[in-house]
Amino acid sequence: TRTQVAVVGGGPAGLLLSHLLARAGVASVVVELRSRREIEETHRAGILEQDSVDLLVDTGVSDRVLRDGYRHEGIELAFGGGSHRVDFTGLVGAATQLYPQTDVFVDLADARERDGGDVRFGVTDVAVEGLGTDAPRVRFTDAAGEEHELVADFVVGADGSRSLCRAQVPQAARRQYFREYPFAWFGILTEAPPSAPELIYNHSPRGFALISSRTESLQRMYFQCDPGEDVADWSDDRIWEELTSRVGANGYTLRQGPITSRSVLPFRSFVQEPMHHGRLVLVGDAAHTVPPTGAKGLNLALADVRVLAEELERAVAKGDPAPLETYSERALGRVWRTQHFSYWMTTMLHTLPDATPFDVRRQEGELALLASSVAGSTYLAEAYTGWPGAR
Ligand code: DHB
Repeated sequence: TRTQVAVVGGGPAGLLLSHLLARAGVASVVVELRSRREIEETHRAGILEQDSVDLLVDTGVSDRVLRDGYRHEGIELAFGGGSHRVDFTGLVGAATQLYPQTDVFVDLADARERDGGDVRFGVTDVAVEGLGTDAPRVRFTDAAGEEHELVADFVVGADGSRSLCRAQVPQAARRQYFREYPFAWFGILTEAPPSAPELIYNHSPRGFALISSRTESLQRMYFQCDPGEDVADWSDDRIWEELTSRVGANGYTLRQGPITSRSVLPFRSFVQEPMHHGRLVLVGDAAHTVPPTGAKGLNLALADVRVLAEELERAVAKGDPAPLETYSERALGRVWRTQHFSYWMTTMLHTLPDATPFDVRRQEGELALLASSVAGSTYLAEAYTGWPGAR
């Protein structure tokens, strides 16, 4: 089969790209290893930047994000026995939307289906070939067991942090940047009412905790843990004890309920540069990973896609891969600013296993500075709600 753009990966990045390309009259086929159901059952982050919300609404994906999401105009920074609200709307005139990534995926998958998009879930044996030629190919076996070959002008790797497309770029043609962290997050879902009207980013001597939400009756919470932690060792009682002692240190109490999901989330920072090679281009987690603090992963992927759709339109129209280089340069500006923000939020709020008393007091000094300085909290507000524009 001949198509203009073959997209490997049908998560939010791949689906949004296919949606935007279709609006510009560019044909694409999306192939995805997982089934729709598997993706829908994976819990991911829940905060959208204002621009991410606008992109979904303004390009006609869905306005469910406005109807079913919750507008949050600030966050609580809890530390040192108290809590300080960072007022996004007051500081930078922006807000965020609490709306889970899973719902963003559902809206995009529905929109592609509604608009007649070609999206193949549950495929196997995906192989990318002929990247050095003018007609790269993607081979795959569909869910019914039938083999296919897509011949395309361009191939997009939107296939997540364990990207198979990324691995196709020869070592001599790319640079990789890594950072590991000596902790992870223990994430839970609990059937309980919200404990607070806004998210609480909680620094405490026993480690970081984040109190987030999903709906009026379902809450999402995380606490810093050892990367080797086994969820089987954690009863509901033990989890509540850990969470309540951490937020209790800063005066919060939690509304508790049955814990319906528990998992350990790894922490990593990663970038591969450039974000293109010949007629292959990488987008979202395939090109970069951020640690979860600050919820930038999905937002950064959507920002990549917005720029990539523009540049791919040009590349397809000219039959020339040069605009992919422009995409990489434009996208990497935001990628590195976001890498910094995610690293900064992470290291400011977590307890480092080898921290000296100096390190701990300095960290408290930094949080106090943020809470007492308009300049400091404005920086956080601006980065958290998202830098504007397709830069
Ligand atoms: C959520 C996750 C985050 O990493 C974050 O910074 C805020 C919220 C969440 O899943 O709700």
